[in-house]
Amino acid sequence: MAHVRSLFFNGPLDAVEDKAHTAYKLGRPSDVIWNITNRCNLRCDHCYMGADGHALPDQLSDEEAIDLVHQMGEAGVPVIFLSGGEPMVRPNFWEILETARGLGIRVTVSTNATLIDRDVAKRLKANGIDWISTSMYGPAEFHDEMVRVPGTQARVIEAIKILREEGVGVALKCAVSTETWPYIYDIIALAKELDCGMIYLCDLITSGRSEGEEDARISAEQWRELADFIIDDITDPESSFEYDIGAMPSFIAYAAERLLERGYDITRGLERLKVVTACPVGKGHMNINSEGGVMPCQFAQDWTIGNIRDLGIDGATRELFKLAEAKPKGKCGDCDYVEICVGCRTKAWHAEGDPMAEDPTCMLDPEFQHGELLIRNALSCCAPGGCS
Ligand SMILES: C[S@@+](CC[C@H](N)C(=O)[O-])C[C@H]1O[C@@H](n2cnc3c(N)ncnc32)[C@H](O)[C@@H]1O
Ligand code: SF4
Ligand code: SF4
Repeated sequence: MAHVRSLFFNGPLDAVEDKAHTAYKLGRPSDVIWNITNRCNLRCDHCYMGADGHALPDQLSDEEAIDLVHQMGEAGVPVIFLSGGEPMVRPNFWEILETARGLGIRVTVSTNATLIDRDVAKRLKANGIDWISTSMYGPAEFHDEMVRVPGTQARVIEAIKILREEGVGVALKCAVSTETWPYIYDIIALAKELDCGMIYLCDLITSGRSEGEEDARISAEQWRELADFIIDDITDPESSFEYDIGAMPSFIAYAAERLLERGYDITRGLERLKVVTACPVGKGHMNINSEGGVMPCQFAQDWTIGNIRDLGIDGATRELFKLAEAKPKGKCGDCDYVEICVGCRTKAWHAEGDPMAEDPTCMLDPEFQHGELLIRNALSCCAPGGCS
């Protein structure tokens, strides 16, 4: 995930980004994405979790889950994302949320929003939830077909309106694929119309029910078209809308280069990126699945470095930090932007079974990469021992 506006300019998530950076620099997890259950009330065609009506057999018990929240509090985790499956179907969802809030941890809920009515929205707000994120894939008929439950899109829109009325921020999320591509600009417009402050656009991950569907990814050229649109928007003085880009770290290198071309000072973004690269694997980012598996990235549920039951949060943090010592290979290893990008390690894992292999989906134009690189100067100028 990379908050494009907050990375380069002042954006709505500055404070969160700062806390996450500080935690990482202090040797703590910067954020934890926790799939608290694999159970779900929808059956999305593309679900990387393959979530269905069943919890996984070795799911963390309620006691283990609450103990884990206490460990996160003691370890100084600044932010937790409760995800799933559908996190709100877990019976002790509220207990987990309330315990985390009581420990001063900022919580965001990643939900399909189908279980949110006015009372739930009020309860979320009362528990300090500033933001939730919820999925939108296109017009009603298409969305409902994709999630396999009729009437879902209308319920999501109703939930968003209620949440906004109750003062809870909403980020729309969409998995970007050849199926959703025709609707992407409409979804961005809908997010603005519904007063969502942010959209999370994530390239398709080919695992779970999307396994083997590499052909369903949009092209690098389409990603560049989308990036140009987003750069126009974040540089529009009238717009404060935030974009979060998932599973496409090269987007950030592309954006940095375009912003430099237009004469923007992006020193702040480059400084941040040299600490936590656009793919944050090994840089404080922690993911825990419903059975306690500790993963460098939530999108690779089969790439685990141990179980939280054995490692505890402190042990898991130490193990994950070691991943940042390895250098990426292939095209990523040779790339001018490796210092700020490093490529998507999950896609390398899925493509080659080697998390340090090259990212097969880099969106940079090979021609452009061999051209005049403005960022090379900007990066060397900010390097340790450089002019700053
Ligand atoms: C796994 S869901 C869990 C939270 C909640 N059930 C929901 O759907 O919003 C989290 C997000 O992952 C996205 N997602 C699911 N499968 C994906 C895939 N194969 N590639 C990219 N994103 C995916 C969903 O669209 C959703 O926005
Ligand atoms: S993407 Fe979310 S809502 Fe859809 S099946 Fe997966 S967990 Fe459930
Ligand atoms: S491995 Fe890919 S999906 Fe995971 S954090 Fe890195 S860029 Fe994002």
